[in-house]
Amino acid sequence: MEIIRSTAWMKQAARDARRNERLLGLVPTMGALHEGHLSLVREAQKQCSPVAVSIFVNPTQFGPGEDFQKYPRTFDADAAALENLRVDYLFAPPPEEIYPRGFRTEVTVEGLGEMLEGRVRPGHFRGVTTVVLKLFEIAQPRFAFFGRKDAQQARIIRQMAADLNLDAEIVVCPIVREPDGLAMSSRNAYLKGSERHAATALYRSLDAMRCEIAKGERDSVRLIAAMRGVLGAETGVAPDYVEIVDGDTFEPVVSLRKTCYALIAARVGSTRLIDNALIEQDGDSFRVTV
Ligand code: PAJ
Repeated sequence: MEIIRSTAWMKQAARDARRNERLLGLVPTMGALHEGHLSLVREAQKQCSPVAVSIFVNPTQFGPGEDFQKYPRTFDADAAALENLRVDYLFAPPPEEIYPRGFRTEVTVEGLGEMLEGRVRPGHFRGVTTVVLKLFEIAQPRFAFFGRKDAQQARIIRQMAADLNLDAEIVVCPIVREPDGLAMSSRNAYLKGSERHAATALYRSLDAMRCEIAKGERDSVRLIAAMRGVLGAETGVAPDYVEIVDGDTFEPVVSLRKTCYALIAARVGSTRLIDNALIEQDGDSFRVTV
């Protein structure tokens, strides 16, 4: 595995891949890698060669007072895990390679970027789309791999790719969970003591919703109430939002239709976690994937 720190060097590797008609797959991350990230790498390796993983804790997607400073940085362990998977390139630029002095251009996906996560974290998605577009320009991927864990992020990146005629095809991969259902996240490392169990309330509430849907419930208000019931029963869990939204517009729906997401954001102690379930219509019934 080649560890690349410079933008020019990564661009050169990308150009070489193109010239040789190879399909470069990119997996953008902020490091502190876990099985969720590694599942994206494995999927990339099924579809692409070479595979590049980027590790960059992107300052512009963190708001003031958020966890940029304390975000876990575990570069040596990350590099070892990627080496073990025989990843071709690890692109880990220093901040000044991505944001040189005087940087002043940003990418905004209007609407989609301002709701839900974007409302609680103003400017967050602008930071995400800006850095992802830059990573795409640098690594020139034919395929780029994202997790459904961040469903709104994936939807916004897909919109950006369509709107800006990007070459990269966006592939969205399933959520990888701990054995007790907690969605893997670099931020799970912040959970202390009893918070670790309390955090499973997000998964348990999605599961409770799944049971209600299996029993025939289709009404968003009642499905949301079922989720809030589970979250509310767990002390130390404070929801930011619990919504059922259309899979395309991310606007709230009154009752289930074609493709929806149930989205949860909650604080567990001082740690902010998100989780979701995909709800897909299948004839008269709905399939729920957590
Ligand atoms: P990060 O949180 O490191 O996540 C990198 C990728 O891993 C994202 O596409 C995310 O959805 C995916 N991922 C995280 N946890 C997962 C899980 N449990 N199962 C499956 N996939 C999971 O998302 C970002 O970084 C940044 O916003 C980034 C896109 C890199 C831009 O800075």
